[in-house]
Amino acid sequence: MPTVHVRDATVSDAEAIAALVNRAFLVERFFVDGDRTSLAEISHLLETGTFLLAETDGRLVACVYVERRGERGYFGMLSVDPSRQGEGLGRLLVAAAEDRCRREGCRMMEIHVVDLRRELPPIYRRLGYVEVGTEPFPDKERPKQPARFIVMTKPLG
Ligand SMILES: CC(C)(COP(=O)(O)OP(=O)(O)OC[C@H]1O[C@@H](n2cnc3c(N)ncnc32)[C@H](O)[C@@H]1OP(=O)(O)O)[C@@H](O)C(=O)NCCC(=O)NCCS
Repeated sequence: MPTVHVRDATVSDAEAIAALVNRAFLVERFFVDGDRTSLAEISHLLETGTFLLAETDGRLVACVYVERRGERGYFGMLSVDPSRQGEGLGRLLVAAAEDRCRREGCRMMEIHVVDLRRELPPIYRRLGYVEVGTEPFPDKERPKQPARFIVMTKPLG
């Protein structure tokens, strides 16, 4: 794999992040119409948390949103460019998100996974996460079939 640099996003990255997230999440069109995110949402998230970006040769290839909520770290919108999936970039960014939260005093990491994406829990289990419960799927995302979130957590030792 070519050298990958990980850095914090700035507001000037918002457009590229939105485009990457929407490209990666095309896989969810079978249960939700429309784009996964927007420039407005990414700009808002850059104020409430951080996006970690993975770049090769200055090109954005993967990103993850990280937010601290007390002793709990949360990550979401983990997005790897479809042409670069399965190369370890997802694992790399999850580790970077965990390191960030651990350094900031978090004891636990949490992620919400849509139950319709049956391939995802095994991926996160490989990264050390376990299912601990479920939560309702936000209505605003208008799923085409019944959906709920699976909550997965991992202790940050
Ligand atoms: C899901 C996603 C983030 C994974 O990132 P990735 O870079 O492709 O995954 P990695 O190559 O880092 O693999 C991570 C681990 O999961 C495993 N894995 C990856 N894809 C898998 C699949 N489809 N089925 C089972 N295991 C898989 C890998 O073997 C690896 O484990 P290992 O290192 O022990 O072998 C990426 O495919 C993606 O962006 N998908 C679209 C957007 C999305 O669904 N995001 C997550 C929403 S919660």
